[in-house]
Amino acid sequence: MKHNISLAGPLALSPFLLENPGRYARWRESKLSGYPKRAEMLVVEVADARSLSAAEHGKLLTICRKTNMVIYATSRGDLADKEIPRQLGEQFGLVHLDSNLLADEDAITSLQVVAEKSGRGYIPYTNRRLLWHTDGYYNSTGQQIRAMSLHCVRPAAKGGENALLDPEIAYIFLRDENPEYIRAFMAADAMTIPANEESGENRAAVSGPVFSIDPATGSLHMRYTARTRSIEWKADDVTRAAVQALERILASQLPLVFRHRLTAGQGLLCNNVLHNRTEFADDVDNGITRLLYRARYYDRIRGTETNAT
Ligand SMILES: [Fe+2]
Repeated sequence: MKHNISLAGPLALSPFLLENPGRYARWRESKLSGYPKRAEMLVVEVADARSLSAAEHGKLLTICRKTNMVIYATSRGDLADKEIPRQLGEQFGLVHLDSNLLADEDAITSLQVVAEKSGRGYIPYTNRRLLWHTDGYYNSTGQQIRAMSLHCVRPAAKGGENALLDPEIAYIFLRDENPEYIRAFMAADAMTIPANEESGENRAAVSGPVFSIDPATGSLHMRYTARTRSIEWKADDVTRAAVQALERILASQLPLVFRHRLTAGQGLLCNNVLHNRTEFADDVDNGITRLLYRARYYDRIRGTETNAT
């Protein structure tokens, strides 16, 4: 079976290709060396995420280069200002925002329970749990979501915890278990999102790989959803086995699967890592209603490119 990655140019040397076991072994060793074992190790306190000091920026970037994600913590949880995610992103080269049909006008989405939107079948606007996924897994090849941020203005009264897994760690676990899983997940027809019939969005069917290598940066990109509706996996044994292996990893209690509940003023900045969310409960009578801002970008966090490390 042939994969669909061109071997031309610098990509030919990518550690993510099965043809380069030596480069992979070196990359893997350096990746795992000093890798954080708990979500608290990802947290960096900053005074104002809209205007980081050089030292704060450096700390955030150092963690992102290791784990593809960082949690910043400000003490201004009450500040409902979309300039926080916008200006934070800009400081990391994140300028090309994805917009979707339900995003607010400025393409930074307010995630909160909204009856009208949730009635249309969009789970992110309800309080139900969200299964493991990467954002925009249904986007076309030209509009892949390489980075995203979540900023918590107000946590829920109860619940709403995220689990987070670096796609490069998922890649390592899968490749360690069976390199053929990587070959299956790099196939251009590994997963297909059928044409969208439920939201009236008229989106065409989208097929693509789970893992791909971004030609511009050499970085690993991942598309995934644990949903079983509205997703068709390639119908062969190795793809099925790879999907099951990934499900086992995501359901595990491995320390590299981080769990964190964003508190007021905290946010996640990441290269679109795998994530889920537990269900949550608002306490409307007491004014405790969860509000998070989400920004999705076509850019990757500047300074985290595989080619640059
Ligand atoms: Fe998400």
